[in-house]
Amino acid sequence: MTDTAQIIDHGKEVLIGNYARLPVVMVRGQGSHLWDSESKEYLDLFAGFGACVLGHCHPELLAALNEQASKLWQVGNTFYSTPQIEFADHLNRTAFKGQAFFCHSGLEANEAAVKLARLKGQLATPKRWKVVSMNKSFHGRSLAMISATGNPAVKAGFEPMVPGFSQIDLGDLEGLSAAIDPETAAVMIEPIQGEGGMNPVPVEFAIELRRLCDERGVTLIFDEVWTGGGRTGKWFGHQHFTRNPGMGAGALTNKNAGSVVLPDIMTLGKAVGGGTPVGVMFARAEIAKLLVPGKHGCTLGGNPLCMAVAKTVFDVIERDKLVDHAAVLGEYGMARLKNERTIASKIANIRGKGLMIGIELKESPDRLVEKGLAQGVAINLTAKNVIRLAPPINISRQEWDLGLDRVVQTIAAL
Ligand SMILES: Cc1ncc(COP(=O)(O)O)c(C=O)c1O
Repeated sequence: MTDTAQIIDHGKEVLIGNYARLPVVMVRGQGSHLWDSESKEYLDLFAGFGACVLGHCHPELLAALNEQASKLWQVGNTFYSTPQIEFADHLNRTAFKGQAFFCHSGLEANEAAVKLARLKGQLATPKRWKVVSMNKSFHGRSLAMISATGNPAVKAGFEPMVPGFSQIDLGDLEGLSAAIDPETAAVMIEPIQGEGGMNPVPVEFAIELRRLCDERGVTLIFDEVWTGGGRTGKWFGHQHFTRNPGMGAGALTNKNAGSVVLPDIMTLGKAVGGGTPVGVMFARAEIAKLLVPGKHGCTLGGNPLCMAVAKTVFDVIERDKLVDHAAVLGEYGMARLKNERTIASKIANIRGKGLMIGIELKESPDRLVEKGLAQGVAINLTAKNVIRLAPPINISRQEWDLGLDRVVQTIAAL
């Protein structure tokens, strides 16, 4: 089957239509470039929803995958395997001291986090089981996670929701204080809301959230599925929440961890697998220890193939100083976009951190992503009028500039 129209027609027949697919068949990727079935090339400024954090077919990820593939693909989690331990070591060095549970997706990591928070909550009197999250949040598509997600469209058709989940507005401290009751087990929040429109959590809100959770015995879960893995110009999004900004939260924040607002549980997905399916629930040891045998599991979670890639993703990011690279290119890109006269009249706001950027348009555009592809750039639209840019964080300055040229042309022509 080589003809593009034929492939698409056949795809429509045999694939469930739950994705709004574009009429393009992607066949190859290299670095920050993609090629479709008609050999048209695109600059990929969305990296598979942020998952291809080191671009496509990175030679060292390929080598790690091949090497592991010739040794061991899968073994039950009743055994130890070293790639899991090596990856967990990286998380300990770059985030905070904790313990990891591995699965395949962000949603599964969040499910595990809520289960763990409930296990802790069971020890309290009254038992704590409820979860407070934010409006405009996105936490995944399982029944519990659509209940946690603050977007009515995601819930529609699947009611009734799982009980115990409620949402407040991001930044609403009074609402937060009122929403946490004696039965609240956890607050779950994204450091920057991705699907909701690239909305960063105000630092003061994060600080107060941590204080309230400590005061009331509530588990704080940071959903870092979008923001983890260097994308935001820090290893993890929460490292932007510093109590003493003067100290900064350098790339490896263990050095000044006291100033960073830490969660009790952090969930990861997307970037940390470099394009392979990896989800992580990473928790402080005091709470992680509650997840004893029989309480949770995942057959293929932490399989050696994915773990070898995930470990190497962190090796490469660290060696090539890509966290700083993301911070520098992100600031440069946002400044450039803010200064583009040709699009100024169409832009309501430009925001983000590192290479996780939202361009809010004044009006909701028609067929924006298709128009971007016609200009040779893969981008995304969320929350009706927010263009999302999330390129591989090892994109070169030249490629980034070329990609931004194409984004500007796309917006200018709307
Ligand atoms: C913040 C956040 N959490 C969770 C998820 C769910 O991740 P997955 O699609 O891997 O289940 C997403 C997906 O976009 C996300 O953005």
